[in-house]
Amino acid sequence: MAALDWLDWLTRAVGILAALGAVQAAQGLSTCRFAQQYTTTSILRNPDAFERDLLHWEGMFHQDNVSYNAFNGMTYDGTLLNPVTGIHDERGIHTFSAASKESLHFMLLAHVVEGHPGAVRWILANDGGGSDTEKARKLAIGLLEQKWTTYQEFNATYPGFGGFLPWFANSGMTPLAPTWDWNNRVPALDNGENIWSIYAVIEALESTGRRDYKVLAKKWEEYLNYLKQTAQRIFYRGSDKICAVTDLANQSLPIDHPAQTYVCEGLNSSGNPYINDPYEGQQFMFYLYLFGDLSQTEKDALLAFKRPQLVSVDWSYPGYKSITVQKGFWFSAHENWGWMQLPYTDIPLMKDLFENMERVRTCNSRATKNPGMFASVNNSTDVNGEIIGYISNAGIPQIANQTIQELDVITPYSTMNTMLVNKPVGLAWWHNMAIAKRMQSPYGSSESTRIDGTATSAFVSWDSKMTTVNGLLGGVTSLVRTRMQRERVYDEFIRIVKKEYEIVFGSNPLKGRDVPYCLPSVLVPDMGLVDFTSCYAS
Ligand SMILES: *[C@@H]1O[C@H](CO)[C@@H](O)[C@H](O)[C@H]1NC(C)=O
Ligand SMILES: *[C@@H]1O[C@H](CO)[C@@H](O)[C@H](O)[C@H]1NC(C)=O
Ligand SMILES: *[C@@H]1O[C@H](CO)[C@@H](O)[C@H](O)[C@H]1NC(C)=O
Ligand SMILES: *[C@@H]1O[C@H](CO)[C@@H](O)[C@H](O)[C@H]1NC(C)=O
Ligand SMILES: *[C@@H]1O[C@H](CO)[C@@H](O)[C@H](O)[C@H]1NC(C)=O
Ligand SMILES: *[C@@H]1O[C@H](CO)[C@@H](O)[C@H](O)[C@H]1NC(C)=O
Ligand SMILES: *[C@@H]1O[C@H](CO)[C@@H](O)[C@H](O)[C@H]1NC(C)=O
Repeated sequence: MAALDWLDWLTRAVGILAALGAVQAAQGLSTCRFAQQYTTTSILRNPDAFERDLLHWEGMFHQDNVSYNAFNGMTYDGTLLNPVTGIHDERGIHTFSAASKESLHFMLLAHVVEGHPGAVRWILANDGGGSDTEKARKLAIGLLEQKWTTYQEFNATYPGFGGFLPWFANSGMTPLAPTWDWNNRVPALDNGENIWSIYAVIEALESTGRRDYKVLAKKWEEYLNYLKQTAQRIFYRGSDKICAVTDLANQSLPIDHPAQTYVCEGLNSSGNPYINDPYEGQQFMFYLYLFGDLSQTEKDALLAFKRPQLVSVDWSYPGYKSITVQKGFWFSAHENWGWMQLPYTDIPLMKDLFENMERVRTCNSRATKNPGMFASVNNSTDVNGEIIGYISNAGIPQIANQTIQELDVITPYSTMNTMLVNKPVGLAWWHNMAIAKRMQSPYGSSESTRIDGTATSAFVSWDSKMTTVNGLLGGVTSLVRTRMQRERVYDEFIRIVKKEYEIVFGSNPLKGRDVPYCLPSVLVPDMGLVDFTSCYAS
């Protein structure tokens, strides 16, 4: 950036700041640096006050040109912040996104539509605040209408994707298109996440009983029905084979065009071209299983294919009781994304298992004197404000399939599942990371901080923020459960999940169910990092 640009920038930033401060003062709201006003003890005593602040400031992420594009209702991947001021800039927008980010957006909109007070607070934050459910619903409905139009246009222009979304370029009024590196390619995992979120949206719209909302529900139902028809052609290769990524002959040709072809990417290389994981790949697998019109033999093959990866493992640490969990890939928090979508925890064994995983996540960090917890995340930003790299391999090596990990960066979203099993404990861990220097901005929490306090990431993204908010709002399992029951697939879902997990975990109580969740005991050290000038503790 040239020096003049910076000056221009700062002048504008100061203007925005003054405006922000005035609005806050007028409304008697907390400041964006609210973490400083709380301690672990004060949060445990009154979690609601802290949660309200969190939802408000995470809601400030939900603005045009920060997290979405107001021209088409579609998500942006995220936004770089000015490394000094912490203010966003249109040049910092990641002008692309994916079905996984759409999934997080849809879940939040589902909660707004059903009238969840926390979601109402979240969506109104950047629109004057307050708790007016009808006003909040109007915003959500507007976005759902816009998205539907955009999805339609994309499908009309690129019929080869069969309604599914590749990573897409999204910028201003330019029509949506695949990003340069996703031309003629489409991933199953992200689309599986998105499907169940849209499923929840449909249920939320219908549950209001309002006629105009039912019309919109019908549109999204038709969209999902279309995916039911195309899922096999695009991703399913018979028996146990679901392509992780499918390569198309030509995204502009209809699916039934003679020149159109679909091949699993990486078939000729040494890697595994198929989805076989017992983590987030399950959402797509279950959609295909329940709605894909497969024979029983094919369904059984899908379950058998991923069975070897579902493994029971005990976490142990001197001074702590052993705790049985599902072995992770890295044991990154995001691997359990599906647990806030599908009603796994309706099964007592699954509820215990899910809680045990958070006992381990919190106690492993407590035991190792880590001020936060791990999840795959973007690394720190450098002196120019650019992201250094992406740290996929972050979790708990002792209970992971992938044992070589980089464990130097923690992220607030590592609490996404903790929020579901024990909100006060989840909030305490989130707070312990957000209170670190330079970890809050006018758009809520930042992406990540180094444990040693020498750098943070001046970046905000759906994955590092809205996963947590969705956890805090309870996930969409209750909407999904109701709809599954209505569509008469719920019993089958419960039956197969129970069966598959009992094969591995048995039916006796799991070890460690009586271990209390652990709280943080150390802070990220103050190494002289300076808070953003738009959001500092006085
Ligand atoms: C977002 O950016 C677009 C340009 O791409 C601009 O037209 C629009 O006014 C911006 N929105 C806001 C709220 O600043
Ligand atoms: C997507 O496009 C195809 C081909 O043009 C069309 O048949 C289908 O109805 C569209 N799907 C939706 C959900 O509109
Ligand atoms: C893909 O199909 C479109 C529509 O028929 C056509 O215009 C385009 O040339 C095709 N692309 C390739 C690389 O064949
Ligand atoms: C894999 O190799 C076969 C035989 O060499 C070839 O016909 C096919 O196109 C290749 N598939 C992919 C996806 O590269
Ligand atoms: C990290 O960056 C990627 C690419 O910009 C983005 O898709 C992702 O949401 C970011 N955060 C996390 C936690 O993955
Ligand atoms: C993350 O950043 C640190 C320096 O801050 C560097 O040592 C490390 O190699 C980076 N890792 C990745 C995956 O970018
Ligand atoms: C990781 O998973 C693969 C595939 O199931 C398996 O072969 C390997 O032994 C596992 N490694 C560990 C350390 O669990």
